[in-house]
Amino acid sequence: MIDKYAVIGNPVAHSKSPQIHAEFARQTAQHISYDRVLAPLDAFEATVRKFFDQGGKGLNVTLPFKREAWDIAESQGYAIDAVAVNTIKHVDGKLLGYNTDGIGLLRDLRGNLRCGLAGKRILLMGAGGATYGVMEPLLREQPERLVVVNRTLEKALKLVGHFKTVEGIPLRSISGLAYPDLGSDQFDIVINATSAGLSDAMPPLPERVFAADALAYDMVYGKITPFLRFARACGARTADGIGMLVEQAAESFYIWRGVRPETAPVIELLRRTAEG
Ligand code: ATR
Repeated sequence: MIDKYAVIGNPVAHSKSPQIHAEFARQTAQHISYDRVLAPLDAFEATVRKFFDQGGKGLNVTLPFKREAWDIAESQGYAIDAVAVNTIKHVDGKLLGYNTDGIGLLRDLRGNLRCGLAGKRILLMGAGGATYGVMEPLLREQPERLVVVNRTLEKALKLVGHFKTVEGIPLRSISGLAYPDLGSDQFDIVINATSAGLSDAMPPLPERVFAADALAYDMVYGKITPFLRFARACGARTADGIGMLVEQAAESFYIWRGVRPETAPVIELLRRTAEG
């Protein structure tokens, strides 16, 4: 029997995961199916249980269920402190929960964009689920400093407090700020983990925020957001989240199948289809 996988979310019709995993499976000659599962907003857990009762092997979890997935799965590795699960593996009747978003971002930055993080000044915008998902892997790269800036300061401070309790994180390197507090601070890597770009909005960043040769990264993919436009106008190098999307999928695929697919051709394919 073919091994069954899927992405679960609401909405889920737009998800590129089936296309990405079909490419990975073709490339690595793995015999799997990968579908979309639309879960009713009030029946996530029941839908997950049904999928696995019917022989499913693994799920990717997308919005708005990553937190609920954390509640029902046994968290592993980075998922524990991310308080969010985007990958579930069904093993011996147990649901193991992983978070591959942070590794996905890291691989895109380091591998695809040739932008190491050690000793760098990083600004992370937003203090919602997307930020929680990437904090620990970024901090473990030992940046010189990582500032979380958010419209609602309390949320940034709460998030920073949470990650200060994670074992092995250098405490002095993280802080939470509101946008006006950024002053004249400059950063080598500025990452947009807010949902602002989806509604063509832009967080109130000062122009001088980009250091020389800075990289501006938006986790949103498939569009030039106002943040990326602003960053270009300020002379920064820019990248959207398509590489992160493919890299987090590759890590999920590895967790499930024990085989690491090649990501570069799949990133290239998605870029070509996005450009139509
Ligand atoms: P997600 O789980 O996708 O991160 P979320 O938890 O709703 O979504 O968080 C969205 C983030 O985007 C928040 O940090 C939000 O700021 P607030 O905490 O102040 O609400 C941020 N955000 C959304 N729109 C924004 C905008 N126009 N400018 C600045 N920040 C914005």
